[in-house]
Amino acid sequence: MKDLTPSRASLDPIEIASRDEISALQLQRLRWSLNHAYTNVNHYKKAFDKAGVHPDDLKSLDDLSKFPFTVKSDLRDNYPFEMFAVPREQVARIHASSGTTGKPTVVGYTAADIENWATLVARSMRASGTKPGDAVHVAYGYGLFTGGLGAHYGAEKLGCTVIPVSGGMTERQVTLINDFKPSTIMVTPSYALSILDAFNAQNIDPRDTSLDVGIFGAEPWTNAMREEIENAFDMHAVDIYGLSEVMGPGVANECVESKDGPTIWEDHFYPEVINPDTGEPVADGEQGELVFTSLTKEAFPIIRYRTRDLTRLLPGTARSMRRMEKITGRSDDMIILRGVNVFPTQIEEQLMRVEALAPHFQIELTRDNRLDMMTIHTECADAAAVQSTMDEAASKLTRLIKDAVGISTVVKVASPGAVARSQGKAVRTVDNRPKD
Ligand code: DLL
Repeated sequence: MKDLTPSRASLDPIEIASRDEISALQLQRLRWSLNHAYTNVNHYKKAFDKAGVHPDDLKSLDDLSKFPFTVKSDLRDNYPFEMFAVPREQVARIHASSGTTGKPTVVGYTAADIENWATLVARSMRASGTKPGDAVHVAYGYGLFTGGLGAHYGAEKLGCTVIPVSGGMTERQVTLINDFKPSTIMVTPSYALSILDAFNAQNIDPRDTSLDVGIFGAEPWTNAMREEIENAFDMHAVDIYGLSEVMGPGVANECVESKDGPTIWEDHFYPEVINPDTGEPVADGEQGELVFTSLTKEAFPIIRYRTRDLTRLLPGTARSMRRMEKITGRSDDMIILRGVNVFPTQIEEQLMRVEALAPHFQIELTRDNRLDMMTIHTECADAAAVQSTMDEAASKLTRLIKDAVGISTVVKVASPGAVARSQGKAVRTVDNRPKD
């Protein structure tokens, strides 16, 4: 793989500023953001008043912990536009997250917000090793989802040639990669695996493509998956993190030279990690739920938003800004199986250790005689595999999961293509337990 480390001179000065400079900027921007939210969004005025705090109470960054959290239901309760801090006419764009039940969560951007977002995605891409002039294949979905357009504007901002493919039509993705020769692909890791299948089906070696780097996010993926993708495509695989409520892709991004968890763009987002049960902030390095406060957003300021993503804050390495540990799960994705907490990424990690298996899987939960059961549906890597190879792979995975995670599972290995393929975010868990 090529050395894609960006030159120091190409970075934004704040990326490598001193911690003092970063904190001073954060404090100044945090004051503005709290005031902006309090003055212009009824929800924040009421929530701050109820908690007995006022934006003027923020004397230091630590004082932020006095302010109330914002949760997803606050956004739903203010559907569609009541959380906006500017008149609708000044909102240049709307995005929304699908939401599995009921109404979507709606977010808005002023023209200045879109400009900042594009700048941060451009910064993220530069950190990933993409350079001005590169061709960029965007296979994140375009539309209300922030992935496609977020990546698109960032790639344009960096000065790239954007190929706005969106998700779907997987065979065509292969043709376009072969013909247009992008150096960067931006896609969910699970859809990258679907594209990988399509390469193999067309008998094209994915290692021979023009791709130097993939920028993967929108769903959890493990370092084991990184290795799998890097080997399959002979390219770097870096992690991009974000969520619509906070902006979209580009809240944090891994640096290609270190690949040690996404660097949080702390000049625009103030991160905290809290104990999810008590709501108390925990020290850097400790596990908990990630919480974000926007520092510059005009249309949709967000104060102490509980992401439900579980991670730790880590000191800066390739940049002065802090990193977050690669996300292993969301509290929503946690499965409690007979008293043991399990995240789909833990299953992924073990699956990747069984060579005879393809990296596709889906977890099914059922109930048998009041006992919860987990079945892992996966595939063999080789279409010509004989039954005994499949049986062996199944028992190997069962054993690895039992040893590493501590749960008993049923593993079902089918022929290649049997597990539903993702075109965006993978559906990792299907819950067929009776609703009681
Ligand atoms: O997924 C934004 C995005 C698009 C990020 C493209 C990266 C690339 P939402 O649909 O609002 O926004 O979903 C946000 O997805 O809270 C995490 O649970 C999860 N997520 C996003 N990036 C990562 C990542 C977009 N790199 C939710 N690793 C977040 C793990 C991620 N989970």
